[in-house]
Amino acid sequence: MQLWKGRFQKELSKTTNDFNSSISFDSRMYKEDIEGSIAHATMLGKCGIIKEEDSQEIVSGLKQILSDIENGTLKIDMEAEDIHTFIEGELTKRLGDNGKRLHTSRSRNDQVALDIKLYLKKEVKNVKEKLRELVSVLCDKAEKYSDTVMPGYTHLQRAQPITFGHHILAYAEMFLRDISRLEDCYKRMDEMPLGSCALAGTTYPIDRSITASLLVFERITNNSLDGVSDRDYCIEFASVLSIIMVHLSRFSEEIIMWCSWEFKFVELDDAFSTGSSIMPQKKNPDIAELVRGKSGRVFGDTMALLTVMKGIALAYNKDMQEDKEAIFDAVDTVKMCLTAFTPMIDTMKVLPHNMRKAAASGFINATDCADYLTKKGVPFRDAYKATGELVALCIEKGTTLEELPLEEYKKICDVFDEGLYAEISLEKCANERKVLGGPNSDNVKAQAKRVRDYLCK
Ligand code: ARG
Repeated sequence: MQLWKGRFQKELSKTTNDFNSSISFDSRMYKEDIEGSIAHATMLGKCGIIKEEDSQEIVSGLKQILSDIENGTLKIDMEAEDIHTFIEGELTKRLGDNGKRLHTSRSRNDQVALDIKLYLKKEVKNVKEKLRELVSVLCDKAEKYSDTVMPGYTHLQRAQPITFGHHILAYAEMFLRDISRLEDCYKRMDEMPLGSCALAGTTYPIDRSITASLLVFERITNNSLDGVSDRDYCIEFASVLSIIMVHLSRFSEEIIMWCSWEFKFVELDDAFSTGSSIMPQKKNPDIAELVRGKSGRVFGDTMALLTVMKGIALAYNKDMQEDKEAIFDAVDTVKMCLTAFTPMIDTMKVLPHNMRKAAASGFINATDCADYLTKKGVPFRDAYKATGELVALCIEKGTTLEELPLEEYKKICDVFDEGLYAEISLEKCANERKVLGGPNSDNVKAQAKRVRDYLCK
Protein backbone atom coordinates (compact mmCIF):
# COMPACT_ATOMS: atom_id res chain seq x y z
CA MET A 1 0.00 0.00 0.00
CA GLN A 2 1.37 3.42 -0.95
CA LEU A 3 0.72 6.50 1.14
CA TRP A 4 0.59 8.72 -1.91
CA LYS A 5 -2.13 7.01 -3.91
CA GLY A 6 -4.55 9.95 -4.53
CA ARG A 7 -3.26 11.34 -7.79
CA PHE A 8 -2.39 7.98 -9.41
CA GLN A 9 -4.71 5.83 -11.47
CA LYS A 10 -2.65 2.68 -11.76
CA GLU A 11 -0.94 0.39 -9.29
CA LEU A 12 2.83 0.53 -9.16
CA SER A 13 4.41 -2.26 -11.18
CA LYS A 14 6.04 -5.02 -9.15
CA THR A 15 9.51 -4.20 -10.45
CA THR A 16 9.11 -0.49 -9.70
CA ASN A 17 7.89 -1.30 -6.23
CA ASP A 18 10.86 -3.58 -5.59
CA PHE A 19 13.27 -1.01 -6.98
CA ASN A 20 11.74 1.85 -5.02
CA SER A 21 11.33 0.00 -1.75
CA SER A 22 13.72 0.38 1.15
CA ILE A 23 11.97 -1.84 3.67
CA SER A 24 14.50 -4.65 3.31
CA PHE A 25 17.12 -2.40 4.88
CA ASP A 26 15.22 0.27 6.80
CA SER A 27 12.99 -2.14 8.77
CA ARG A 28 15.77 -2.27 11.36
CA MET A 29 14.68 1.27 12.35
CA TYR A 30 11.16 0.19 13.36
CA LYS A 31 11.76 1.08 16.98
CA GLU A 32 13.11 4.55 16.22
CA ASP A 33 10.29 5.15 13.77
CA ILE A 34 7.71 4.31 16.43
CA GLU A 35 9.52 6.37 19.11
CA GLY A 36 9.56 9.33 16.72
CA SER A 37 5.87 8.92 15.91
CA ILE A 38 4.94 8.67 19.58
CA ALA A 39 6.75 11.95 20.27
CA HIS A 40 5.17 13.58 17.22
CA ALA A 41 1.64 12.48 18.14
CA THR A 42 2.15 13.61 21.74
CA MET A 43 3.27 17.02 20.51
CA LEU A 44 0.32 17.31 18.12
CA GLY A 45 -2.02 16.63 21.04
CA LYS A 46 -0.29 19.06 23.39
CA CYS A 47 -0.38 21.82 20.78
CA GLY A 48 -4.06 21.25 20.08
CA ILE A 49 -3.42 20.28 16.46
CA ILE A 50 -5.21 17.01 17.05
CA LYS A 51 -7.47 16.21 19.98
CA GLU A 52 -5.75 15.10 23.17
CA GLU A 53 -7.76 11.83 23.26
CA ASP A 54 -6.90 11.10 19.63
CA SER A 55 -3.26 11.68 20.41
CA GLN A 56 -3.48 9.24 23.32
CA GLU A 57 -5.14 6.63 21.17
CA ILE A 58 -2.40 6.99 18.54
CA VAL A 59 0.32 6.70 21.19
CA SER A 60 -1.14 3.52 22.66
CA GLY A 61 -1.70 2.11 19.17
CA LEU A 62 1.95 2.73 18.38
CA LYS A 63 3.09 1.15 21.64
CA GLN A 64 0.99 -1.90 20.85
CA ILE A 65 2.54 -2.15 17.38
CA LEU A 66 6.00 -1.94 18.92
CA SER A 67 5.33 -4.74 21.36
CA ASP A 68 3.66 -6.86 18.67
CA ILE A 69 6.74 -6.51 16.46
CA GLU A 70 9.04 -7.33 19.35
CA ASN A 71 7.12 -10.37 20.51
CA GLY A 72 6.80 -11.65 16.96
CA THR A 73 3.02 -11.40 16.56
CA LEU A 74 3.32 -8.66 13.94
CA LYS A 75 5.55 -9.43 10.96
CA ILE A 76 6.93 -6.51 8.99
CA ASP A 77 5.51 -6.66 5.46
CA MET A 78 8.41 -6.78 3.03
CA GLU A 79 6.13 -5.57 0.24
CA ALA A 80 5.69 -2.18 1.95
CA GLU A 81 7.54 0.79 0.48
CA ASP A 82 9.46 1.51 3.64
CA ILE A 83 9.24 1.17 7.41
CA HIS A 84 7.44 4.51 7.77
CA THR A 85 4.72 3.43 5.36
CA PHE A 86 4.37 0.09 7.08
CA ILE A 87 3.97 1.47 10.59
CA GLU A 88 1.51 4.18 9.53
CA GLY A 89 -0.46 1.67 7.46
CA GLU A 90 -0.61 -0.77 10.36
CA LEU A 91 -1.75 1.99 12.72
CA THR A 92 -4.51 2.98 10.30
CA LYS A 93 -5.55 -0.64 9.95
CA ARG A 94 -5.94 -0.77 13.72
CA LEU A 95 -7.35 2.70 14.49
CA GLY A 96 -9.03 3.89 11.31
CA ASP A 97 -9.25 7.69 11.11
CA ASN A 98 -6.99 8.31 14.07
CA GLY A 99 -4.22 6.38 12.38
CA LYS A 100 -4.60 8.73 9.44
CA ARG A 101 -4.14 11.77 11.69
CA LEU A 102 -0.59 10.82 12.71
CA HIS A 103 1.12 12.26 9.67
CA THR A 104 -0.36 15.76 10.18
CA SER A 105 2.42 18.32 9.86
CA ARG A 106 5.06 15.75 9.05
CA SER A 107 6.70 14.29 5.96
CA ARG A 108 8.64 11.12 5.49
CA ASN A 109 11.53 13.45 4.68
CA ASP A 110 11.88 14.76 8.21
CA GLN A 111 10.69 11.43 9.58
CA VAL A 112 13.48 9.45 7.93
CA ALA A 113 16.11 12.02 8.93
CA LEU A 114 14.90 11.69 12.51
CA ASP A 115 14.87 7.90 12.45
CA ILE A 116 18.42 7.66 11.14
CA LYS A 117 19.67 10.09 13.75
CA LEU A 118 17.91 8.23 16.56
CA TYR A 119 19.32 4.95 15.28
CA LEU A 120 22.86 6.22 14.76
CA LYS A 121 23.03 8.01 18.10
CA LYS A 122 22.64 4.60 19.74
CA GLU A 123 25.20 3.05 17.41
CA VAL A 124 27.79 5.74 18.09
CA LYS A 125 27.50 4.78 21.76
CA ASN A 126 27.71 1.06 20.96
CA VAL A 127 30.87 1.47 18.91
CA LYS A 128 32.36 3.66 21.62
CA GLU A 129 31.64 0.99 24.23
CA LYS A 130 33.37 -1.65 22.12
CA LEU A 131 36.41 0.57 21.67
CA ARG A 132 36.56 1.13 25.41
CA GLU A 133 36.64 -2.64 25.96
CA LEU A 134 39.49 -2.95 23.48
CA VAL A 135 41.48 -0.12 25.04
CA SER A 136 41.06 -1.63 28.47
CA VAL A 137 42.45 -4.97 27.19
CA LEU A 138 45.36 -3.02 25.69
CA CYS A 139 46.05 -1.48 29.09
CA ASP A 140 46.14 -4.96 30.70
CA LYS A 141 48.69 -6.11 28.14
CA ALA A 142 50.75 -2.94 28.41
CA GLU A 143 50.96 -3.21 32.19
CA LYS A 144 51.85 -6.88 32.07
CA TYR A 145 54.61 -6.34 29.50
CA SER A 146 55.75 -2.89 30.55
CA ASP A 147 59.42 -3.96 30.67
CA THR A 148 59.47 -6.55 27.88
CA VAL A 149 62.17 -5.43 25.49
CA MET A 150 61.46 -5.68 21.79
CA PRO A 151 62.85 -3.99 18.70
CA GLY A 152 61.08 -0.86 17.59
CA TYR A 153 60.98 -0.51 13.80
CA THR A 154 61.09 2.12 11.12
CA HIS A 155 60.81 1.04 7.48
CA LEU A 156 60.20 -2.39 9.03
CA GLN A 157 63.91 -2.43 9.86
CA ARG A 158 64.96 -2.90 13.47
CA ALA A 159 65.60 0.58 14.76
CA GLN A 160 65.77 1.14 18.53
CA PRO A 161 64.84 -0.84 21.64
CA ILE A 162 61.39 -0.25 23.06
CA THR A 163 59.07 -2.18 25.35
CA PHE A 164 56.11 -4.24 24.22
CA GLY A 165 53.90 -2.29 26.60
CA HIS A 166 54.93 0.91 24.88
CA HIS A 167 54.17 -0.52 21.45
CA ILE A 168 50.73 -1.66 22.56
CA LEU A 169 49.91 1.71 24.09
CA ALA A 170 50.52 3.39 20.73
CA TYR A 171 47.33 1.63 19.60
CA ALA A 172 45.54 2.69 22.76
CA GLU A 173 46.31 6.30 21.81
CA MET A 174 44.82 5.79 18.34
CA PHE A 175 41.65 4.25 19.73
CA LEU A 176 41.33 7.00 22.33
CA ARG A 177 41.38 9.54 19.52
CA ASP A 178 38.69 7.48 17.80
CA ILE A 179 36.60 7.59 20.96
CA SER A 180 36.95 11.35 21.05
CA ARG A 181 36.03 11.58 17.36
CA LEU A 182 32.89 9.54 18.09
CA GLU A 183 32.02 11.95 20.87
CA ASP A 184 32.42 14.92 18.53
CA CYS A 185 30.37 13.24 15.87
CA TYR A 186 27.63 12.52 18.41
CA LYS A 187 27.48 16.17 19.44
CA ARG A 188 26.92 17.37 15.88
CA MET A 189 24.38 14.60 15.22
CA ASP A 190 22.36 15.58 18.26
CA GLU A 191 20.02 17.97 16.41
CA MET A 192 16.32 17.19 15.93
CA PRO A 193 15.03 17.60 12.34
CA LEU A 194 11.32 16.88 12.90
CA GLY A 195 9.21 19.91 11.98
CA SER A 196 11.18 20.53 8.78
CA CYS A 197 8.36 18.53 7.17
CA ALA A 198 8.78 17.98 3.42
CA LEU A 199 11.22 20.87 3.02
CA ALA A 200 9.52 24.12 3.98
CA GLY A 201 8.38 23.61 7.56
CA THR A 202 4.70 23.97 8.32
CA THR A 203 1.88 26.41 8.97
CA TYR A 204 0.60 24.34 11.91
CA PRO A 205 1.46 25.79 15.31
CA ILE A 206 3.75 22.88 16.25
CA ASP A 207 6.22 23.09 19.13
CA ARG A 208 9.46 21.49 18.06
CA SER A 209 10.95 21.80 21.52
CA ILE A 210 8.40 19.27 22.83
CA THR A 211 9.46 16.60 20.34
CA ALA A 212 13.14 17.44 20.85
CA SER A 213 12.89 17.00 24.58
CA LEU A 214 10.76 13.84 24.37
CA LEU A 215 13.33 12.33 22.02
CA VAL A 216 16.26 13.65 24.10
CA PHE A 217 17.91 15.84 21.49
CA GLU A 218 20.29 18.57 22.57
CA ARG A 219 19.29 21.01 19.82
CA ILE A 220 16.77 21.58 17.01
CA THR A 221 17.79 22.02 13.36
CA ASN A 222 17.63 25.65 12.29
CA ASN A 223 16.81 25.37 8.62
CA SER A 224 14.08 23.15 7.24
CA LEU A 225 15.82 22.57 3.89
CA ASP A 226 18.99 21.50 5.64
CA GLY A 227 17.01 19.57 8.24
CA VAL A 228 15.68 17.15 5.61
CA SER A 229 18.62 17.01 3.23
CA ASP A 230 21.57 16.91 5.59
CA ARG A 231 23.40 13.60 5.72
CA ASP A 232 26.66 14.96 7.14
CA TYR A 233 26.05 12.90 10.24
CA CYS A 234 26.17 9.70 8.17
CA ILE A 235 29.28 10.83 6.32
CA GLU A 236 30.99 11.96 9.48
CA PHE A 237 30.19 8.76 11.35
CA ALA A 238 31.34 6.69 8.37
CA SER A 239 34.56 8.69 8.28
CA VAL A 240 35.20 8.05 11.94
CA LEU A 241 34.44 4.36 11.36
CA SER A 242 36.91 4.37 8.47
CA ILE A 243 39.64 5.78 10.69
CA ILE A 244 38.87 3.11 13.28
CA MET A 245 39.29 0.52 10.53
CA VAL A 246 42.63 2.07 9.51
CA HIS A 247 43.82 1.56 13.07
CA LEU A 248 42.42 -1.96 13.36
CA SER A 249 43.92 -2.84 10.01
CA ARG A 250 47.41 -1.60 10.92
CA PHE A 251 47.20 -3.50 14.19
CA SER A 252 46.04 -6.62 12.33
CA GLU A 253 48.98 -6.34 9.98
CA GLU A 254 51.36 -6.39 12.95
CA ILE A 255 49.57 -9.32 14.56
CA ILE A 256 49.83 -11.23 11.28
CA MET A 257 53.56 -10.54 11.08
CA TRP A 258 54.12 -11.29 14.74
CA CYS A 259 52.44 -14.69 14.33
CA SER A 260 54.79 -15.71 11.52
CA TRP A 261 57.79 -17.94 12.21
CA GLU A 262 59.94 -15.04 11.02
CA PHE A 263 58.86 -13.02 14.07
CA LYS A 264 57.02 -15.34 16.50
CA PHE A 265 56.44 -12.50 18.94
CA VAL A 266 52.94 -13.72 19.76
CA GLU A 267 50.83 -16.80 19.44
CA LEU A 268 47.10 -16.53 18.99
CA ASP A 269 44.82 -18.69 21.06
CA ASP A 270 43.47 -21.72 19.19
CA ALA A 271 39.97 -20.30 19.56
CA PHE A 272 41.00 -17.35 17.41
CA SER A 273 42.99 -19.10 14.67
CA THR A 274 42.21 -21.46 11.86
CA GLY A 275 43.97 -24.30 10.08
CA SER A 276 44.56 -25.31 6.50
CA SER A 277 42.64 -28.02 4.69
CA ILE A 278 45.86 -29.41 3.22
CA MET A 279 48.83 -28.23 5.28
CA PRO A 280 48.63 -29.95 8.66
CA GLN A 281 51.15 -27.62 10.33
CA LYS A 282 49.27 -24.40 9.61
CA LYS A 283 47.80 -22.05 12.17
CA ASN A 284 46.53 -18.98 10.42
CA PRO A 285 45.62 -15.55 11.82
CA ASP A 286 42.38 -15.37 9.82
CA ILE A 287 40.62 -12.99 12.18
CA ALA A 288 43.33 -10.37 11.85
CA GLU A 289 43.39 -10.86 8.08
CA LEU A 290 39.63 -10.48 7.83
CA VAL A 291 39.67 -7.33 9.92
CA ARG A 292 42.40 -5.96 7.65
CA GLY A 293 40.33 -6.98 4.63
CA LYS A 294 37.07 -5.57 5.94
CA SER A 295 38.60 -2.11 6.22
CA GLY A 296 38.03 -1.90 2.46
CA ARG A 297 34.28 -2.32 2.90
CA VAL A 298 34.05 0.50 5.38
CA PHE A 299 36.14 2.84 3.21
CA GLY A 300 33.85 1.87 0.31
CA ASP A 301 30.76 2.71 2.36
CA THR A 302 32.20 6.11 3.20
CA MET A 303 33.01 6.75 -0.45
CA ALA A 304 29.49 5.69 -1.44
CA LEU A 305 27.96 8.19 0.98
CA LEU A 306 30.16 11.02 -0.24
CA THR A 307 29.31 10.21 -3.84
CA VAL A 308 25.57 9.93 -3.22
CA MET A 309 25.49 13.35 -1.62
CA LYS A 310 27.84 15.34 -3.80
CA GLY A 311 25.52 16.34 -6.62
CA ILE A 312 22.01 16.61 -5.24
CA ALA A 313 20.18 19.91 -5.19
CA LEU A 314 18.23 20.92 -2.08
CA ALA A 315 16.25 19.48 -0.50
CA TYR A 316 15.32 15.77 -0.26
CA ASN A 317 15.98 13.56 -3.29
CA LYS A 318 15.42 9.85 -3.47
CA ASP A 319 19.15 9.31 -3.99
CA MET A 320 19.36 9.81 -0.26
CA GLN A 321 17.63 6.51 0.38
CA GLU A 322 21.02 5.01 -0.54
CA ASP A 323 22.47 6.40 2.71
CA LYS A 324 21.16 3.61 4.89
CA GLU A 325 22.76 0.49 3.45
CA ALA A 326 26.13 2.20 3.40
CA ILE A 327 26.10 3.54 6.94
CA PHE A 328 24.48 0.41 8.37
CA ASP A 329 27.07 -1.78 6.69
CA ALA A 330 29.88 0.38 8.01
CA VAL A 331 28.53 0.25 11.57
CA ASP A 332 27.80 -3.49 11.44
CA THR A 333 31.25 -4.21 10.05
CA VAL A 334 33.12 -2.19 12.65
CA LYS A 335 31.12 -3.70 15.50
CA MET A 336 31.70 -7.20 14.14
CA CYS A 337 35.43 -6.56 13.76
CA LEU A 338 35.75 -5.23 17.29
CA THR A 339 33.75 -8.14 18.68
CA ALA A 340 36.21 -10.58 17.14
CA PHE A 341 39.36 -8.53 17.60
CA THR A 342 39.25 -7.64 21.30
CA PRO A 343 39.10 -11.20 22.69
CA MET A 344 41.73 -12.25 20.15
CA ILE A 345 44.12 -9.67 21.65
CA ASP A 346 43.03 -10.51 25.17
CA THR A 347 43.85 -14.20 24.80
CA MET A 348 46.95 -13.93 22.64
CA LYS A 349 50.14 -15.30 24.16
CA VAL A 350 53.06 -12.87 24.18
CA LEU A 351 56.51 -14.40 23.69
CA PRO A 352 59.02 -12.04 25.38
CA HIS A 353 61.93 -14.39 24.79
CA ASN A 354 61.55 -14.14 21.01
CA MET A 355 61.18 -10.38 21.18
CA ARG A 356 64.35 -10.15 23.21
CA LYS A 357 66.15 -12.40 20.71
CA ALA A 358 65.07 -10.18 17.82
CA ALA A 359 66.16 -7.12 19.76
CA ALA A 360 69.61 -8.62 20.24
CA SER A 361 70.46 -8.60 16.55
CA GLY A 362 70.12 -5.71 14.18
CA PHE A 363 72.26 -3.22 16.15
CA ILE A 364 69.29 -1.45 17.64
CA ASN A 365 71.56 -0.04 20.36
CA ALA A 366 73.75 1.80 17.83
CA THR A 367 72.11 5.15 18.60
CA ASP A 368 72.84 4.56 22.28
CA CYS A 369 76.46 3.76 21.46
CA ALA A 370 76.74 7.09 19.61
CA ASP A 371 74.92 8.84 22.48
CA TYR A 372 77.45 7.34 24.91
CA LEU A 373 80.29 9.05 23.05
CA THR A 374 78.31 12.28 22.74
CA LYS A 375 77.66 12.36 26.48
CA LYS A 376 81.46 12.10 26.89
CA GLY A 377 81.94 15.23 24.78
CA VAL A 378 82.33 13.85 21.25
CA PRO A 379 80.19 15.91 18.81
CA PHE A 380 77.14 13.83 17.80
CA ARG A 381 77.99 13.71 14.10
CA ASP A 382 81.49 12.31 14.85
CA ALA A 383 80.02 9.85 17.36
CA TYR A 384 77.49 8.78 14.72
CA LYS A 385 80.27 8.17 12.16
CA ALA A 386 82.44 6.19 14.59
CA THR A 387 79.47 4.01 15.56
CA GLY A 388 78.64 3.43 11.89
CA GLU A 389 82.17 2.13 11.38
CA LEU A 390 81.80 -0.12 14.43
CA VAL A 391 78.57 -1.55 13.04
CA ALA A 392 80.28 -2.26 9.71
CA LEU A 393 83.10 -3.99 11.62
CA CYS A 394 80.62 -6.11 13.61
CA ILE A 395 78.85 -7.15 10.40
CA GLU A 396 82.19 -8.15 8.90
CA LYS A 397 83.16 -10.15 12.00
CA GLY A 398 79.69 -11.61 12.49
CA THR A 399 79.36 -10.18 16.00
CA THR A 400 77.34 -7.59 17.92
CA LEU A 401 78.16 -4.30 19.60
CA GLU A 402 77.71 -5.98 23.00
CA GLU A 403 80.27 -8.65 22.15
CA LEU A 404 82.86 -6.60 20.29
CA PRO A 405 86.05 -6.32 22.46
CA LEU A 406 87.00 -2.93 23.88
CA GLU A 407 90.33 -2.84 21.89
CA GLU A 408 88.31 -2.79 18.67
CA TYR A 409 86.26 0.12 19.99
CA LYS A 410 89.36 2.00 21.00
CA LYS A 411 90.91 1.57 17.54
CA ILE A 412 88.02 3.59 16.14
CA CYS A 413 87.67 6.10 18.98
CA ASP A 414 89.80 6.20 22.13
CA VAL A 415 87.08 7.82 24.22
CA PHE A 416 85.45 4.36 24.70
CA ASP A 417 85.99 2.59 28.02
CA GLU A 418 84.54 -0.37 29.96
CA GLY A 419 81.49 1.70 30.95
CA LEU A 420 80.21 1.40 27.38
CA TYR A 421 78.87 -2.13 27.80
CA ALA A 422 76.43 -1.12 30.53
CA GLU A 423 75.23 1.77 28.41
CA ILE A 424 74.37 -0.37 25.41
CA SER A 425 72.59 -3.15 27.26
CA LEU A 426 69.19 -3.43 25.63
CA GLU A 427 67.30 -3.31 28.91
CA LYS A 428 69.06 -0.11 29.83
CA CYS A 429 68.58 1.42 26.37
CA ALA A 430 64.83 0.82 26.56
CA ASN A 431 64.47 1.77 30.19
CA GLU A 432 66.62 4.90 30.09
CA ARG A 433 64.21 6.41 27.59
CA LYS A 434 62.35 8.04 30.42
CA VAL A 435 61.32 11.03 28.40
CA LEU A 436 57.58 11.72 28.56
CA GLY A 437 55.99 9.46 25.97
CA GLY A 438 58.95 7.06 25.95
CA PRO A 439 59.17 3.25 26.41
CA ASN A 440 60.48 3.23 30.00
CA SER A 441 58.61 0.70 32.08
CA ASP A 442 57.35 3.17 34.73
CA ASN A 443 56.25 5.48 31.94
CA VAL A 444 54.27 2.67 30.37
CA LYS A 445 52.56 1.89 33.66
CA ALA A 446 51.79 5.56 34.25
CA GLN A 447 50.43 5.95 30.74
CA ALA A 448 48.28 2.85 31.09
CA LYS A 449 46.88 4.33 34.28
CA ARG A 450 46.16 7.64 32.57
CA VAL A 451 44.34 5.80 29.78
CA ARG A 452 42.30 3.83 32.31
CA ASP A 453 41.40 7.01 34.16
CA TYR A 454 40.26 8.53 30.87
CA LEU A 455 38.07 5.49 30.20
CA CYS A 456 36.44 5.85 33.61
CA LYS A 457 35.43 9.46 33.21
N1 ARG B 1 12.41 5.48 2.18
C1 ARG B 1 12.74 6.88 2.04
C2 ARG B 1 14.22 7.09 2.35
O1 ARG B 1 14.79 6.24 2.94
C3 ARG B 1 11.93 7.71 2.98
C4 ARG B 1 11.70 9.09 2.53
C5 ARG B 1 10.77 9.11 1.39
N2 ARG B 1 10.50 10.43 0.97
C6 ARG B 1 10.03 10.72 -0.25
N3 ARG B 1 9.85 11.95 -0.53
N4 ARG B 1 9.85 9.78 -1.14
O2 ARG B 1 14.82 8.08 2.03
